[in-house]
Amino acid sequence: MTTSTATARRTDGVAAAGPGCAPPPEPPPEPGPDIRLAVKDAFGIDSPLTVPAFSESSEHVPETDPAYRFNPDVTLALLAGFTHNRRVLVQGLHGTGKSTHIEQVAARLNWPCVRVNLDGHLSRLDLVGKDAVVLREGRQVTAFQEGIIPWALRRPVALILDEYDAGRPDVMFIIQRLLEREGSFTLLDQNTVLRPHPQFRLFATANTVGLGNLNGLYHGAQRLNHAQIDRWNIVATLNYLPADEEAAIVRARVPAFADEAGRDLVTAMVAVAALTRAGFRAGDLSTLMSPRTVITWAENTEIFGDCAAAFRLSFLNRCDEEERHVVAEYFQRCFGHEPEEPGRVSGHGPLAGEPVRSH
Ligand SMILES: Nc1ncnc2c1ncn2[C@@H]1O[C@H](COP(=O)(O)OP(=O)(O)OP(=O)(O)O)[C@@H](O)[C@H]1O
Ligand SMILES: [Mg+2]
Repeated sequence: MTTSTATARRTDGVAAAGPGCAPPPEPPPEPGPDIRLAVKDAFGIDSPLTVPAFSESSEHVPETDPAYRFNPDVTLALLAGFTHNRRVLVQGLHGTGKSTHIEQVAARLNWPCVRVNLDGHLSRLDLVGKDAVVLREGRQVTAFQEGIIPWALRRPVALILDEYDAGRPDVMFIIQRLLEREGSFTLLDQNTVLRPHPQFRLFATANTVGLGNLNGLYHGAQRLNHAQIDRWNIVATLNYLPADEEAAIVRARVPAFADEAGRDLVTAMVAVAALTRAGFRAGDLSTLMSPRTVITWAENTEIFGDCAAAFRLSFLNRCDEEERHVVAEYFQRCFGHEPEEPGRVSGHGPLAGEPVRSH
């Protein structure tokens, strides 16, 4: 996202506005939060706290997902970030709900929120801004196109740096400046010093804690500079949840499984996922099933009406061939038959198959 600032230069290189000229007047800062919400009401967490929020939604406020289930510890960490301007890094294995958790907290607070993925293609210029030729009053001029950081800094916006551990070193050093709490941000090319809006907030998500791809799951994860990690005020961890909580999330996402039969099926699915995670820890598997995959498996079961076929398509086929028999055995332990056999899904399609209740 880029926005054009008032500083423009003619294409012949003569500055139309620059260090010698009077800077254009700053627009008044956008208003911040105007109400306080009870944490208990907004997030269903047993807490007497209240948090600042906006009474009105606006363009950049994420859509509320009514089925979202908040993890109490992570929610309180994020709320401390919003309320006390703490920089919060949420770390955890893939598909555990890190990115959506921050967005859903912002959605409940009506706090505008922008998510930037720090993948390998994002450059320093994308973040800070760059000169570009634009047409102004029929003339070509080079104008500074503001990058996402200056744009967000000036506003009551929560900036989420997603996949923080995948950021390139040049990008990470730009972010280091942002991590100073009262840190002002210098746009060197513009000779401008930006002071953050008092309600600007910064969050990040990462799969690793900056030590690189230690477990082989996260190719592209960089080793991070510890002076940087040190600047995050709060590091919250969102790893896999207790089985009943994970099953509740899956049922909330796929309402077709809300009945008794669906409940048993989802419990068995979550049990298979738990076995893959234990197998990964023990070194029997090189991959594991994330909560995101369990949700996808449940959705595919609804589509195909066949839990075993959905399992093959959602997870088994992406496992190493050498390891598929181990994964198939986990399925067998929880469902009582091999995933190769067409299973029947009770009450959810033409082919029903009762999950095994005790395992
Ligand atoms: N607590 C939850 N309640 C409802 N849905 C959830 C919850 N946690 C995760 N999900 C769902 O799981 C999926 C994965 O979530 P998300 O993309 O936020 O994970 P992530 O931790 O950011 O993953 P990655 O590390 O791969 O970026 C989403 O579809 C999300 O809606
Ligand atoms: Mg994510």
